[in-house]
Amino acid sequence: MNNKTPLTINHIQEMKRHGKKIAMLTCYDAVFASAMDEAGVDVILVGDSLGMVVQGMNSTAAVSVDDIAYHTRCVARGVARAFLLSDMPFGSYHNESLAMNNAVQLLASGSAMVKLEGAGPMIAIVEYLVSRGIAVCGHLGLTPQSVHHLGGFKVQAREAEAASRLMEDALALQTAGAQLLVLECVPAALGSEVSAQLDIPLIGIGAGADCDGQVLVMHDMLGLGGRVPRFVANFMQGRQSIGAAFESYVSEVRSGRFPAKEHQYA
Ligand code: KIV
Repeated sequence: MNNKTPLTINHIQEMKRHGKKIAMLTCYDAVFASAMDEAGVDVILVGDSLGMVVQGMNSTAAVSVDDIAYHTRCVARGVARAFLLSDMPFGSYHNESLAMNNAVQLLASGSAMVKLEGAGPMIAIVEYLVSRGIAVCGHLGLTPQSVHHLGGFKVQAREAEAASRLMEDALALQTAGAQLLVLECVPAALGSEVSAQLDIPLIGIGAGADCDGQVLVMHDMLGLGGRVPRFVANFMQGRQSIGAAFESYVSEVRSGRFPAKEHQYA
């Protein structure tokens, strides 16, 4: 494949089948998107983390669809190869028609896929969107939009019952038609098990080294995140440029050097 061939979800799924690790990062503007694209980042997520790292809020709850659409348009202008994915913000997908209208707005802004958090009633929403031609990524484990319900940003599914519920949710999302899944902040052994059970790629963030790929928030991996969770590594350390930091991230994810033991939860 030529380095500038735009990646589709089929390419990303093929990477899992061939055991090639997927490097994903969040991004919010065209200049950083272009640098990530040049560095070989496979998937770029316009995350609702922008509420915290760009807008300076203490959660993602107030991010709007218009905010994500605006940043998606900016990022899309910088991308030639990477697969582009956008978050559906909190409250934007809690019934079918709302989800459909908002997903269409994000696709019209340049995304190829939308991501939404949770399972339960969200399974039917995923099924609805997929049956109408929308590509969907799930997000389980620590779901930041529910931080107040979860009682804080903390490791999820440590107990056997919660872990087996999470496994059922992951399989249900796949059955509903999700083509990608993000798993955040769970014990590494659970990440490994979920990856082995799923046919679709599993992208981990604090979910261990055996996930099919890794994602980090851009500001965190560039060392701009202030106090960061243990699953974050600073890729700017010892590097001369942001481009070199992105290249090093891609190379460490591909080779399995990142995440190391110290970035994982037992
Ligand atoms: O919004 C975001 O940045 C995310 C990542 C944490 C995966 O959803």
